[in-house]
Amino acid sequence: MKTIGIGLVGSGFMGRCHANAYSSVAGLFDVPLKPKLKMLAEANPELAKEAARSLQFERFTADWPELVNDPEVELVDITAPNHLHQPIALAAIAKGKPVYCEKPLACTLEEAKTMRDASESAGVATLVGYNYLQNPMIQTAREIVQSGEIGELFSFRGVHAEDFMADAQAPYTNRLDAEQGGGALYDIGSHIISLARFLVGPLCEVMGMQSTVFTERPEATNSKQMKTVKVDDQTHFLARFENGCSGTLEAS
Ligand SMILES: NC(=O)c1ccc[n+]([C@@H]2O[C@H](COP(=O)([O-])OP(=O)(O)OC[C@H]3O[C@@H](n4cnc5c(N)ncnc54)[C@H](O)[C@@H]3O)[C@@H](O)[C@H]2O)c1
Repeated sequence: MKTIGIGLVGSGFMGRCHANAYSSVAGLFDVPLKPKLKMLAEANPELAKEAARSLQFERFTADWPELVNDPEVELVDITAPNHLHQPIALAAIAKGKPVYCEKPLACTLEEAKTMRDASESAGVATLVGYNYLQNPMIQTAREIVQSGEIGELFSFRGVHAEDFMADAQAPYTNRLDAEQGGGALYDIGSHIISLARFLVGPLCEVMGMQSTVFTERPEATNSKQMKTVKVDDQTHFLARFENGCSGTLEAS
């Protein structure tokens, strides 16, 4: 069976999920290429070494450009924090390598457009990690909508709510760091927006509000040292779609 060399940047929660999927996919599905875990990049050499060992990558680096430039890396998978998505993706696209980038694609619309334009002009295959869109239930919902079975859509209501930050004592992480693209809208709001677009179509107008429920959080688990939170814990907005449908979306 033909293989494809995987370079994974980031080995946190999602990096481990991706590595696990690469290791098992060829045994579960009829895929044309078997992933080979070639190189893992992490923020420092200790993390990189330990993650490469536990996830069974052949090699590791603490310098992601080395991974992008490695000839055995044929696909670059980005599971690093949001603010790193654009530079890593652009570097991989410049090398003509397919990119699998976690959501949200980027931290600003301008960044996202540079990524879209670069991949289109290079003709490089890309995928953003909107995993819910691959769920058979969501695909069936889309088929039902598109078949006209439920008629014209007038109203959409979408909620993506998770409770992992509901505890005021949950410590500060990069998910709460504005510089790293943190906040509920970017983190999980991006999922419900992608779903709304997938089921209904492009949005054209929005109006909403954001709030920070816990304005301070412990710097680390059980720490007395508090850190200010500047991003949203929840975002609610009204939306109008290009096809005339209107709705409400919520990320919390
Ligand atoms: N599709 C989904 O459902 C889903 C779920 C969770 C997270 N995500 C996305 O996945 C990405 C990672 O989220 P996570 O929850 O795994 O975060 P995480 O904090 O658990 O992992 C991020 C990893 O990136 C590493 N990292 C930081 N700087 C780096 C650098 N310069 N080079 C290499 N590695 C570096 C960190 O050390 C950490 O191990 C985010 O973009 C997030 O939005 C997607």
